[in-house]
Amino acid sequence: MKMLYRLLMVCAAVGTAPAWASGEGTYKAVCASCHGQAFPKSPQLGNKTQWAPLIREGQVTLTAHGYVGVRGMPAKGGQPDLTLEAFAEALNHMVNQSGGNWKTPDAKTLQAMQAEVAKRQKSKASKAGG
Ligand code: HEC
Repeated sequence: MKMLYRLLMVCAAVGTAPAWASGEGTYKAVCASCHGQAFPKSPQLGNKTQWAPLIREGQVTLTAHGYVGVRGMPAKGGQPDLTLEAFAEALNHMVNQSGGNWKTPDAKTLQAMQAEVAKRQKSKASKAGG
């Protein structure tokens, strides 16, 4: 019985090792179903023409807006437990396969993203309210 318990603990620990361990992993698990499968209007991985204007918005803005959700783009890619960090890494993976060269955001950049997320959520909420 004790053995079984221990085994379960090990499984649980492995299970929580996030699917979002890498940007590519998160991309495959969460984003690829749309961004790699021609989901209508979604910019496709590797399509430089589609990504160029988005990349020009800058890492902070684009990451924050994607995270909050834009039109057909669901908030957090439809994964309620996806962290901003993991989302940023997945987006970096797409951007870097599509003509960009973004890096893992440092603490300051993450803070700026969080601020932009908060701002965006607020303006969305007030729009929804009328
Ligand atoms: C259910 C399909 C779907 C999934 C899953 C999805 N996206 Fe999207 N995404 C879209 C669509 C559709 C758009 C285009 C939205 C528009 O402009 O109307 C989009 C647009 C975006 C944009 C551009 C936002 C902007 O400001 O114009 C970013 C960035 C983005 N997605 C990132 C991601 C990331 C990162 C993931 C995975 C964590 C993800 N998406 C998962 C459908 C999806």
